[in-house]
Amino acid sequence: MKPKAHIVNLPVYQPGKPIEEVKKEYGLDEVIKLASNENPYGCSPKAKEAILAELNEASVYPDGAAAELSSELADFLGINSDQIIFGCGSDEVIALIARAFLQPGDETIMADQTFSVYKSNADIEGAVSIEVPLVDGTHDLNGMLAAVNDRTKIVWVCNPNNPTGTIVSESELVKFLDAVPSHVMVVLDEAYYEFVTDAAYPDSIKLMQKYPNLVVLRTFSKIYGLASLRIGYGLGEPEVVKLINQVREPFNTSRLAQAAAKAALQDQEFVANCRRLNAEGIAYLQQEFDRLGLSYFPAHGNFILVNVQRPGQEVFQSLLRQGVIVRPGFSRYPDCIRVSVGTPEQNRTFIGFLEKALGDVVAPV
Ligand SMILES: Cc1ncc(COP(=O)(O)O)c(C=O)c1O
Repeated sequence: MKPKAHIVNLPVYQPGKPIEEVKKEYGLDEVIKLASNENPYGCSPKAKEAILAELNEASVYPDGAAAELSSELADFLGINSDQIIFGCGSDEVIALIARAFLQPGDETIMADQTFSVYKSNADIEGAVSIEVPLVDGTHDLNGMLAAVNDRTKIVWVCNPNNPTGTIVSESELVKFLDAVPSHVMVVLDEAYYEFVTDAAYPDSIKLMQKYPNLVVLRTFSKIYGLASLRIGYGLGEPEVVKLINQVREPFNTSRLAQAAAKAALQDQEFVANCRRLNAEGIAYLQQEFDRLGLSYFPAHGNFILVNVQRPGQEVFQSLLRQGVIVRPGFSRYPDCIRVSVGTPEQNRTFIGFLEKALGDVVAPV
């Protein structure tokens, strides 16, 4: 058997440690996972009801086109159904975009510390990733523009950026979109869109009307709390969406996921509540980091990248032993850990454990 040469040495994605594994390994009864930017409040009770009701239809294939959900989401967003493509998480939409638009030798531009799935899919397609350094943890849109050439197919802008949590503003984005050649697709990943409260954050749906090369990604995994059901979506021009649809598997989103997403969309009160609680959680964590003398990037999603002034891996290990899972290992920021915002109680526990971890792990002089 001979695989494609360019996939032979690709790494397998390494997810964070699951709670059960940590409990067993460290002999802990309680473990808090603040490592994957999940919603600590779960999902809307309406979504749970919809999932249970849909279980009766588990033996029947889903509607591959997710027509009902598409129509409801289109009404909600004020766009047309033919501008929406659903995926098995927005992860899959990223993969489908790469499959439809990237071929060996093409170039694709992204930040040097951003969501890893853009690069992994570019690698799978044999495309070349051009990684432009973040400036102060924020996308350098001028630097990204300067990297565009005739081979450039896609520019990925993660907004808020994972892991730094920073945003680019509407005025910065518009300046960038005005200058990017029309043959280049700009993918704006808004997985954390619903958490953002900053007025400078772009209105991407409005911008889509003006820039046909703009594709927006969103998901039901984060504020809607449906990460395990795997449903996210892409928004774009009908011609672009049609091309992405052509490389989609026939039944890529399940009946349960579609039913849950429809019900979740109806419960905007749940969303607003989670946004408010998340903002309060961020304010609390930032205030505690200030007290501990730790710097952090301005957080606009449901996570904070904090500089622990010691190797992040060691602080992560100390927190793990105490029963909190966070995320270390960002090559650009080795002294940082990314912590997801939890419930007030989880946040307090995390801060207590962090204080101990900072004592356990000696800071280099
Ligand atoms: C920036 C960003 N985009 C996309 C995703 C993928 O989310 P999902 O595939 O669950 O929709 C994530 C998940 O963590 C993310 O952080």
